Order: sequence, then C-alpha cells, then structure tokens
Amino acid sequence: MSAAVDAVGILGIGSSLPERVLTNFDLEKMVDTSDEWITKRTGISERRILEKEKAAYELGACAAIKAIEDAGIRPSDIGVVLATTSTPDYLVPSTACLIQEKTGAANAAAFDLNAACTGFVYGLTVAKQFILTGFCKYVLVVACEALSKVVDWKDRNTCVLFGDGAGAFVLGPAEKGFGILDSYLKSDGSQGRVITLPCCHMEEEDIAKRAGKAKNVLWMDGSEVFKFAVKAVTDAIDGLLEKAHIKLEELNLIIPHQANIRIIDGAAKRLKLPDEKIYTNIHKYGNISSASIPVAVEEVVRAKRVKKGDYLLFVAFGGGLTWGSTLVRWNR
Ligand code: UT7
Repeated sequence: MSAAVDAVGILGIGSSLPERVLTNFDLEKMVDTSDEWITKRTGISERRILEKEKAAYELGACAAIKAIEDAGIRPSDIGVVLATTSTPDYLVPSTACLIQEKTGAANAAAFDLNAACTGFVYGLTVAKQFILTGFCKYVLVVACEALSKVVDWKDRNTCVLFGDGAGAFVLGPAEKGFGILDSYLKSDGSQGRVITLPCCHMEEEDIAKRAGKAKNVLWMDGSEVFKFAVKAVTDAIDGLLEKAHIKLEELNLIIPHQANIRIIDGAAKRLKLPDEKIYTNIHKYGNISSASIPVAVEEVVRAKRVKKGDYLLFVAFGGGLTWGSTLVRWNR
C-alpha cells in the first residue's frame, strides 16, 4: 500500500499519431463524397491512419513511454496500467497488458476499460481512486484507438469521420486543491443501439443494418447521435460545474471530445462561451474516440496554453451511450 493522498494530478503527458495522412481529397477518390461536404458538415480536413501491419497498442505504448518520461518516473513505479479503447487489437490479451509489456511497467496490474469515446474521462475517474485509496502511487492511463480498422471504407456515412491516434497520462499524488478535482459520469444503455460495433455476436438488427455492407464494422445513426451529443455536452458541463461549485466563467479552457465541429460550436453557443475558451483540433485528426482528449491536452500543454492553477474541463460523449466530464486544476 502507498500512503493515501489528498489530491491526484496529471504528472506526465504523451501522445502518438500515425504518420500517414488521409485527406478529404483522398476520400473523394474512395467514396461518393467531397471535401466541401466533409469540411462544412464536420470540420474535418484530414485524419491519421495507422499502417495496416501496425497495431493500435503500439501507438498507445509510444504515447505511454513519452508520458512516463514526462512524469520523470520509472516504468517499474507504475501500479496500474489502464487502457481505454473501443478498438482493441486483441480481446485477450488486453491492450493494457500489451502496453505493460512494451513500456516495462512490470509491477503494474493492467486492464482495459471501454466507454467508447467517453473512455478517457471514465478512465481518469477510475485511475484516481487507486491513488486516493493508497492502492498505488502512480497510474498510467492510455487511450489508443485505430478506428480505421473497424470502419467500412465503402460507407461514406462513417468512414470520413474517424481516425487513429493515442494519448496517455501518468497520474500521481498532487498538491491539495490541484489536479483532478471532480468528475461527472453518465450512461444510457437504452439508447445504445444508435452506434454499434459488434464483436463476438451479432443480433438480427445488426445484420439488417449492415445489409450489403461489410460485417463487423462500425454502424452509426449519425443524426440521432448528433442530437444526443449536443445535449450530452451541455449536461456534462452544467452537471459538473454544479457538482463542483465552480462557475463557467472560472474555467480557463474546455477540451471537448472532437467528433464534429458543429457539436462543439452548438454547445459553445448554448453556453455563450467565447471561442478562445474551447479547444479544437478536429480539422487535423477527425474523431479518434477516447484518444481525442489526451491528444488535445498534449497539444495545449506543448503550446503553453495552460499554467498552474488554471481550471480545465474535459468533456466527452459517445457509444454506450455514455457521456461525462472531468474538472482539473492544473498542477504543473
Ligand atoms: O464520437 C461520437 C460519435 N459520433 C458523433 O458524434 C457523430 C454525430 N453525427 C454527426 O456528426 C453528423 O450527423 C454526421 C456528420 C454523421 C452527418 O451530418 P448530418 O448533417 O447529420 O447529415 P445527414 O446524416 O442528415 O445526411 C445529410 C445528407 C444525406 O443525403 P440525403 O439523404 O439528404 O440525400 C447523406 O446521405 O448527406 C449525405 N451524406 C454525405 N454526403 C457526402 C452522408 N455522408 C456523406 C458524405 N459525403 N461523407
């Protein structure tokens, strides 16, 4: 057992993105779409695609190694490796175990958590408990996703939206009043069939939805998810601010899951948020599911857009359906 701590902060950050860029113009040659449609309806210009022979966990391990170095700890100091993914390379072994091996975190427990695009926000909350209770001192949370392996490249409704990438945080003890202050997590399984990615079993409705298309691929009712997402973002921000007794004006930066620029703009308009208080990078990467928040946080930190004491709010939504948010007072 480690000594119980008062606060849990983000001690190290890393990210890793595949080198290969797939632009909207490339997609024009693959499906009946246009750069104009994709840009206008989603805000995406390009996305990164993992090489076919590479695994998502390799991206995750690369992000994790950078986060461990950034935290200035040894891999053997890590007590838990938690991987968030909805595109595991293997169901067994877990992505977390594969990353444990690659990073040398030999003393860690390792497991995966799937809350689709909300996975990283869920993962931070779970990871925090291990440290607060004294189970261990450091937890490595890694989001790694390769949506390119599960989309139907003939389905223009989905293939233009997603990309691949990974991001990782090392969490550990922080000064009281700093770090991960609070979180708000929700799910509604009754609406879950609007985004599906079957694995070991397919029900009749899954087969019907994919009629004439590749099987075992991601399927989404885009407009239903869109309506849900706009409400979910507002609920997760309002819900957390109320729970944590913080005012919207006190937030320095909101880092939302990057699924569609219109979802982000819609929420910003509802909340009357100025543009500079909400971070977007969707034009470069598309939707990289649970990796979108840590990849964005890494960029924000590298660009020196945050300083100690700033209030950041991460907000995400996605399959399950799941949604949630994390409030952080920057501790570095
Ligand atoms: O990570 C969490 C999960 N995902 C999301 O948050 C995604 C949420 N949904 C969305 O972002 C949007 O609903 C989409 C971007 C998926 C679609 O945008 P939309 O404005 O809701 O379009 P729509 O589904 O209402 O489709 C409008 C039209 C349709 O044509 P018809 O039926 O009006 O003739 C589609 O077939 O646009 C067509 N369309 C396309 N056209 C060109 C759909 N995809 C494409 C495409 N290129 N790639």
